[in-house]
Amino acid sequence: MPLPLATATEGISPDNVSGNSTVPRHIAVIMDGNGRWAAARGLPRLAGHRAGAEAVTRCLKAARAKGVEYLTLYAFSSENWRRGPDEVADLTGLLRFYLRHKVNELHKQNVRILFVGDTHRFGQDLCDELAHAERLTGANTGLTLLLALSYGGRSEIVQAAKAIARAAMRGELDPDSIDETVVSNHLLTAGIPDPDVIVRTSGEHRLSNFLLWQSAYAELVFLEQMWPDFNETTFNQILEIYARRERRFGARPA
Ligand code: IPE
Ligand code: IPE
Ligand code: MG
Repeated sequence: MPLPLATATEGISPDNVSGNSTVPRHIAVIMDGNGRWAAARGLPRLAGHRAGAEAVTRCLKAARAKGVEYLTLYAFSSENWRRGPDEVADLTGLLRFYLRHKVNELHKQNVRILFVGDTHRFGQDLCDELAHAERLTGANTGLTLLLALSYGGRSEIVQAAKAIARAAMRGELDPDSIDETVVSNHLLTAGIPDPDVIVRTSGEHRLSNFLLWQSAYAELVFLEQMWPDFNETTFNQILEIYARRERRFGARPA
């Protein structure tokens, strides 16, 4: 089935762009700006997070429509625990609500759901719901939705280093055989291709501990828009920007 093409960019029309080369296989998003979106409207931060959760649905719909295979969403960082119990409770409550109300719908849409991060920090109840969502959707063959929850890139690399060291101590792994593939295979994202593009909304220009290893050759796209305003037009804009980029991976320019 031919995949829908990205919206035309200067000099490129949907007719002369071949196949899905303009559609990234894996898009990762740092969904930022909920608090500022709410503050600009005189609303509490929770209202921003609620509106942000609705933007997730729009983003997912657009990604499925365009044939994106992997969508990774940074929903809660390992540093976001610093926000204090009120905001953490609001965010956890929203997560629980969406798990309860959306997982069946996502399952019907053939979406496979996976979680990465120190999810045990959210408590057993929520972990059980996450495990249920992963189990229910595990055999689905449509878009893979990877939700980063209590995720931190540095701690992910640390835990991979520990696991590799333990395997070496047990004699199961020769230290000289450790290469990039071995490290990748010990990350939480083992088996998932690196993101082709990492998007951050809200005008901030940093990764904030997101996919530090996996981002090595990702195209970075920084948008001014606040996450709750994210919609299909934004998504198409990302595809246009991506289509204009020349990915060289260290080789000579074409
Ligand atoms: C992103 O929005 C949501 C999370 C980090 C959980 P923020 O809550 O960071 O919103 P701003 O950056 O304060 O506007
Ligand atoms: C990054 O946003 C984390 C998520 C979007 C989940 P933050 O708002 O936490 O990042 P900083 O603090 O501005 O770097
Ligand atoms: Mg923020």
